[in-house]
Amino acid sequence: MTESSDLRLKKIPLNNGSGQMPALGFGTLIPDAAVTMTATRDALQAGFRHIDCAERYRNEREVGEALQAGLAAGGIAREDIFVTTKLWNSNHRPERVGPAFAASLDRLRLSYLDLYLIHTPFAFQPGDEQEPRDRDGNVIYDDGVTLLDTWRAMESLVDNGKCRAIGLSDITLDRVLPIYESAKIKPAVIEVESHPYLPETELLEFCKERGIIFLAFAPLGHGITPGLLEDPVVLAVAARIGKTPAQVLLAWAIQRGTAVLTTPKSAARARENFDISALPEDAFNEINGIQTRQRLNPVVNTGVGGFLPGKPA
Ligand SMILES: NC(=O)c1ccc[n+]([C@@H]2O[C@H](COP(=O)([O-])OP(=O)(O)OC[C@H]3O[C@@H](n4cnc5c(N)ncnc54)[C@H](OP(=O)(O)O)[C@@H]3O)[C@@H](O)[C@H]2O)c1
Repeated sequence: MTESSDLRLKKIPLNNGSGQMPALGFGTLIPDAAVTMTATRDALQAGFRHIDCAERYRNEREVGEALQAGLAAGGIAREDIFVTTKLWNSNHRPERVGPAFAASLDRLRLSYLDLYLIHTPFAFQPGDEQEPRDRDGNVIYDDGVTLLDTWRAMESLVDNGKCRAIGLSDITLDRVLPIYESAKIKPAVIEVESHPYLPETELLEFCKERGIIFLAFAPLGHGITPGLLEDPVVLAVAARIGKTPAQVLLAWAIQRGTAVLTTPKSAARARENFDISALPEDAFNEINGIQTRQRLNPVVNTGVGGFLPGKPA
């Protein structure tokens, strides 16, 4: 079933009544500080109103600066944008959650967050080292804290009003279930890798049944080629409807009922990636029919991201 409304402006309600998430989001996983600032500015100018950040990306300061300038220049109110950031693995201990949240808020120069996510369900040794490793180079995990302990601390952030919603990321359905069952505040959003090669249908159905927003990252397959941007079905649909492969993939994601993140790094790409429109039903079904299956990001298995290209941990 496709939707025909303007995909660029579509908003999805949060299950706790705290607001709506624009379905089309701009992701800030950009290794270069200067590019982070120009890309954030360009995204706002192109029309993006949903900004996805993370402590782990080490650029919240630059995003905050660009947001402040961009909102002022564009006459955009804080209430008109939806900002997310994420708690990193080395801050899972409950006593570290509040300070980590406050530090992110400070770097982003915001007084509240629309959404705070647990970046991955893997707890690392607590501390300032984002990727603590032993002498053999193995990541040091922390078995002194459970995901539910961390979730309870996240719930307190909502209770004290600085954060409107909370959720999970890089997680599989079997790990979501116990949190969902025990949560006082149910997850509002689950952010995971998803694209035609990794449709995550079971998790998507779970989310839809419970009003949880399924937020897809890597909709363009992280831009890796050969890959989704050169898939013959995607190329054929793009040529037929006069859109680019990126526009086809972003439209498909929103039409199947997910929110989606993309990371254009230039003004032209920001305009391109924002200028999406609904696929005709036959095109939508052709993309659904792609049979290739591929996960690109190993983070869901280890908590260690393949998501900082070119940036040493
Ligand atoms: N929760 C997590 O663990 C997690 C993990 C990964 C990502 N994320 C979030 O998801 C966001 C999206 O990241 P992503 O890598 O998944 O984004 P993406 O948009 O799927 O891929 C970005 C890549 O696509 C290329 N690209 C962008 N627009 C294009 C276009 N119109 N035509 C051709 N190529 C294009 C970019 O190339 P150039 O580099 O040449 O511009 C870049 O290499 C991130 O910024 C981050 O916020 C979250």
